[in-house]
Amino acid sequence: MKYIDTNNCRLEIGDITTSSLDEKLNFTYAHVKKVVIVDENSRENCLEYMLTNFTGLSEAEIILLPAGEDNKQLNIVGSVWEALTEYGVSRHDVIINLGGGMITDLGGFVASCYKRGLDFINIPTTLLSMVDASIGGKTGVNLGHYKNQIGVFSDPVAVYIDPVFLSTLPGYELLSGYAEMLKHGLIHSEALFSSVLQAMREDEIPSLDLIESCIRVKHEVVTEDPTEKGKRKVLNLGHTIGHVLEGHFMNRIPLTHGHCVAIGIMMEAYISYRRGMLAEEDFRLVQDAIFEFYELPAYSNDEVGEMVAMLYNDKKNANNAILCVLLQKIGDCSYDIEVPESQFVEAFLHYKNLQINMN
Ligand SMILES: NC(=O)c1ccc[n+]([C@@H]2O[C@H](COP(=O)([O-])OP(=O)(O)OC[C@H]3O[C@@H](n4cnc5c(N)ncnc54)[C@H](O)[C@@H]3O)[C@@H](O)[C@H]2O)c1
Repeated sequence: MKYIDTNNCRLEIGDITTSSLDEKLNFTYAHVKKVVIVDENSRENCLEYMLTNFTGLSEAEIILLPAGEDNKQLNIVGSVWEALTEYGVSRHDVIINLGGGMITDLGGFVASCYKRGLDFINIPTTLLSMVDASIGGKTGVNLGHYKNQIGVFSDPVAVYIDPVFLSTLPGYELLSGYAEMLKHGLIHSEALFSSVLQAMREDEIPSLDLIESCIRVKHEVVTEDPTEKGKRKVLNLGHTIGHVLEGHFMNRIPLTHGHCVAIGIMMEAYISYRRGMLAEEDFRLVQDAIFEFYELPAYSNDEVGEMVAMLYNDKKNANNAILCVLLQKIGDCSYDIEVPESQFVEAFLHYKNLQINMN
């Protein structure tokens, strides 16, 4: 078992059945209500494993949510708060979020606001939530098509990361998690970027060591800047464009969060290159890596206009300027860079035309 301690929370990476969870459920939370939040897929693939291995969950209330990003919305949050009220849950009780980033983001938000906050534990069951969403204290939901518009910073008391849950994850969901791992490589080092790429080429579930390396990258950044006043913004590489793609295509074509981030990374690398910040060789390496695993979605000129308009709602912006993370080299990037609308338009049109040529 590997341990990473943050100010308010312990991350345990390895076999969950030998983790501190059993002790937590049977001692720390022995006499309080336990509520497990799952979605349809984590219920189907992960819940039984937890109920079989943890007697401390035998009397837990289970709240089942519909799966999918379009359910990460306030109306679902409201229905969970109503269920908690019906079960008589108090602020001394504990919520256990068992699922991907949709469940850990939404469940963390639910827990942080219900009766002004109760303890919650994250048990991520997708690669993306293991290496990214379940750690770092960001919780929240979307507002219509605007990603993570409503939320708070709030840490779980513990996060248990066990790749045992990854065996049932569809390949495209694995790739979604890999996109955030590529991002961790791009902001940290060429060595990590190459290791992630190699694991993707081997078409395997990443090793525990590689998962841990990526978690450590995020942990280091978040420890330095927990509430994203500065350095933490680097973790948004690929997300300025990625969030717009995700919001725009939501309910139209099934694109995972990581898929959108991957395309966002490539387009933001293109902008970095066109501005003379990123060497052509590094840009080509990034573009080739993304094209090897992720397809470009098709969009029209009108949609370019719609997506560029959405960029103005990004949380990182200030003074009506679009601020973006840009790459300087593989392993280094800068944040808070003002990018004019015209450069986003150029990037969207460049890849739109490339898409047409590729087909
Ligand atoms: N809070 C943060 O810092 C942070 C960081 C990155 C991403 N996010 C958020 O995370 C979300 C994306 O996370 P995600 O990709 O995990 O999405 P998700 O939770 O929607 O999971 C993806 C799919 O996998 C299914 N699933 C979950 N576990 C499974 C398992 N073990 N086997 C089979 N299927 C399983 C889910 O039901 C869903 O259909 C987005 O909402 C994004 O905004 C948050």
